[in-house]
Amino acid sequence: MATLRIRGGAPLYGHVSVGGSKNSALAILAAAALADGVCILENIPKHTDILVMCRVLKDLGVDVWIDEKGRFHVDGSTLSNDQPSYEYARKIRASIYAAGLLLARLGRAEVPLPGGCAIGSRGVDFHIKGFQQLGAQVGIEHGYIKASSTGLVGTKIYVNRASVGTTINLMLAACMASGTTILENAAKEPEVVDLAIFLNSMGAKIRGAGTDIIKIQGVKRLHPVEYSIISDRLEAGTFMIAVGACGGEVTLHNIVPEHLRTPIAKLKEAGVQVEVGDSELFVRSFQRPHSVDVETAVYPGFPTDLQQPWVAMMTIADGTSVVKETIFSDRFRYVDELRRMGADIKLEQESAIVRGVERLTGAPVEVSDLRAGAALVIAALAADGETHVSGAEILNRGYERIDQKLVSLGANIVADDSLPQPWEAFSELMRPARVQMEL
Ligand code: EPU
Repeated sequence: MATLRIRGGAPLYGHVSVGGSKNSALAILAAAALADGVCILENIPKHTDILVMCRVLKDLGVDVWIDEKGRFHVDGSTLSNDQPSYEYARKIRASIYAAGLLLARLGRAEVPLPGGCAIGSRGVDFHIKGFQQLGAQVGIEHGYIKASSTGLVGTKIYVNRASVGTTINLMLAACMASGTTILENAAKEPEVVDLAIFLNSMGAKIRGAGTDIIKIQGVKRLHPVEYSIISDRLEAGTFMIAVGACGGEVTLHNIVPEHLRTPIAKLKEAGVQVEVGDSELFVRSFQRPHSVDVETAVYPGFPTDLQQPWVAMMTIADGTSVVKETIFSDRFRYVDELRRMGADIKLEQESAIVRGVERLTGAPVEVSDLRAGAALVIAALAADGETHVSGAEILNRGYERIDQKLVSLGANIVADDSLPQPWEAFSELMRPARVQMEL
């Protein structure tokens, strides 16, 4: 396990550039393989979950490589295998997008049940029901989702709980189905909208993304395109909350402020100053945060992925706050680790009751999942003394070496050598331009 040694107490100052959206990139990498040629994708972050998704696609026969400018090339014309390996598929939730992709391209799929962060039960029933409604035969056998169809047919589908992953998977499956598919109660997350814009640029006919009704008129083929994905609202939110917890003045660049409306409103309530530019946010705080209640919700509500960082900030707020998790059944595992640092948190059903303390104290803690890791880093930055955060490699699943970005803002963090640099981890996909010419 890799460890971050964090000495707390330093406010954050400076500028930080936010990377591409992990959850958008995961969907768009799968969608790119729907085309019968090479899509070129920019702004794909070098997160380990992205690397695993590329390996899942390569398992299917899709050629994926990175050029010297850092752009990802995805060649779906070589897709031939309907079964990604268990080894990679079990590591990430987004591997389930292989099912939508394969049904659309080959009419059959054998996809291992996906993995992902340990944040509670993460069923696949909504995905399966949706594929069945499109006319596929689908079942779970020996740990695999087995699906086949002689041609998907558009229909009206109600998406349970406005599930993000289900909406994405059904968009992948339906965009080349015959007839029109209508997704009711569809997810409205910016990542869904980004996927729709990408698919439409490839020739798909999708209307309504960003509302709860998405209409997908099937087309015969999708052509390859070049595309740049949106920036990561969750990375931006993590940095904003870090400033709220530690104090300081930070400008965030390359962001879409509209994607962060609710977190911005909540931060302002907590006494953090936020100024919004076109693609920048200026965040400033020199006081202990006020306690503010939060309830997670589907977009545009407060994102569940910022619940953990928010609780970290509330541990040192000037009062008691109630943070309610409504999306995932077990996203409070990190609370015991925060308690090691002196946090006063009581769990009651789906809520954390956080009584703010004057200060946290450094302690050894361990990361249980991606956003829990972000919460522990924020708590450590705000604490007195040194915190050893072990399991830090989990942070690389969804942040591009967050420790280095924080160090550039003045944080005192030393990472052990076992934590790879983003580019090192992706070296297996790097292909120089010369080789590309020869191919
Ligand atoms: N659910 C089911 N059955 C299903 C699908 C979902 O019961 O077939 C439940 C889930 O267990 C959960 C709820 O429905 O309780 C909503 O889950 P959703 O499908 O919306 O989530 P997801 O697609 O699995 C994506 C993100 C998560 C993010 C959620 C909610 C990706 C790869 N993951 O997950 O991101 O928290 O949407 O916005 O896009 C993260 O980035 O740290 C992360 C966990």
